Amino acid sequence: MLLHIPGLFAREEVLRVREALEQTEWADGKITAGHQSAKAKHNLQLPEGHPLAKEIGAAMLELWQNPLFMSAALPHKVFPPLVNCYTGGGSFDFHIDNSVRQARGSVERVRTDLSSTLFFSDPDDYDGGELVIQDTFGTRQIKLPAGDMLLYPATSLHKVNAVTRGARYASFFWTQSLVRDDGHRTLLFEMDTAIQQLSRDVPDHPSLIQLTGTYHNLLRQWVEV
Ligand code: NI
Repeated sequence: MLLHIPGLFAREEVLRVREALEQTEWADGKITAGHQSAKAKHNLQLPEGHPLAKEIGAAMLELWQNPLFMSAALPHKVFPPLVNCYTGGGSFDFHIDNSVRQARGSVERVRTDLSSTLFFSDPDDYDGGELVIQDTFGTRQIKLPAGDMLLYPATSLHKVNAVTRGARYASFFWTQSLVRDDGHRTLLFEMDTAIQQLSRDVPDHPSLIQLTGTYHNLLRQWVEV
């Protein structure tokens, strides 16, 4: 499932972060790529532990208050966000992300079930730079407004097209979900969405108790903690 989560960062927050990103020192993006994907990756990245990356990571804790993210991702653990910049023809060819990540200086490992890209540049700021994702419905090309986030399965083949004008700033992170399987997660998300809708439209409907119970009993079947 691909999901657009709008307005994760407010406009003034986005502008402040982008200004800081425009003025900072960048490193070669190959530093966090696996052996295979290093050959495909041509971008710039903030070094792990960079103060700005930490600041963005702290601000992203707001995610845990975002009902759409919580319902769709069912997050267990999150790998600290990476921050990248594509400019001057920079691109990242088709690849699948590594399955397990360990942050530098941490003993904790994160299984990468879900990928998230939070955009800090607006589509008009650059040419190219589409996030291209292959899923069961074919190929999608995505470019979201600054402050918006795309959530997609980390199992998918994806790439970033070359940026031929301007710069594309984005933050990127992986989530280990409580539910490993994308199909199970999608089913739970659709059921939760329907229950939320019903509880708004017909708040006292007697079936709500049973439906909510069934949601939790399904989750209990699949959850890994
Ligand atoms: Ni990737």
